[in-house]
Amino acid sequence: SARRPLIAGNWKLNPATAPEALALLKLVVANQRALESSGRTAELPDVAIFPPFPFLQLAVDAVAGTGIKVGAQNVGLEGKGAFTGEVSASMVRSLGCQLVLLGHSERRLLYGEDDEMIRRKVRLALDGGLDVVLCVGETEAEYEMGLLPAVCALQLKKALHGLQPADLERISIAYEPVWAIGTGRTATPAQAQDAHAIIRSVIAELFEHEPARAVRIAYGGSVTPESIDDLMRMPDVDGALVGGASLIADKFSRIVEFAP
Ligand code: G3H
Repeated sequence: SARRPLIAGNWKLNPATAPEALALLKLVVANQRALESSGRTAELPDVAIFPPFPFLQLAVDAVAGTGIKVGAQNVGLEGKGAFTGEVSASMVRSLGCQLVLLGHSERRLLYGEDDEMIRRKVRLALDGGLDVVLCVGETEAEYEMGLLPAVCALQLKKALHGLQPADLERISIAYEPVWAIGTGRTATPAQAQDAHAIIRSVIAELFEHEPARAVRIAYGGSVTPESIDDLMRMPDVDGALVGGASLIADKFSRIVEFAP
């Protein structure tokens, strides 16, 4: 497709310390430099990493001079003021970050984020200068009840409510079936394709044809160097949101280098 793929690493609550984060960053950056100097730059996807907040500045500094973008895993619901413990989109932007991950199922299921909160965060992120990777996906029980289309459609409608078609240029979607996250049960390429086609048709209903054709939909859930190539052969799979494998620099690099 004409869509430039996005391979993103979500570090979640890892690694434990700043020196370990710096060591991982050095390996990720060295691998990226090797890929970028291989003369195949035109074939490389967009690459992003989402380290924990305390490591964002380290990451921004480490990736300088490479094509890697850095994003935050979350932002708070306010722009500024008496909100102890919160982090704003503009703070993250001011460090040199370009992206934020929103709507991850771990935020929804473990920290009580609902669709309305996610909608507000999407608006705040765009206004604060961050592009958004918006996660959607059904739980295992929902999948077994045949609710994948309904669940994903509702999550998208609510999170994207009030946005203009032009805003979609700054949003990528990550389809992450909850049953595939951290379980080793990667969705099959056909399952991912079906879900991505549904998501694209929902976006077409909400924003018309052109934004739906252009929006990137990445797959997340136990992506590995072994599973990436077949996933990326699906017409509506435009990338991957990688959790566990993004903490191992050589695995992440092999995923970035997926065979087109
Ligand atoms: O954001 C990333 C996903 O939750 C996938 O995590 O690759 O460890 O299954 P995983």
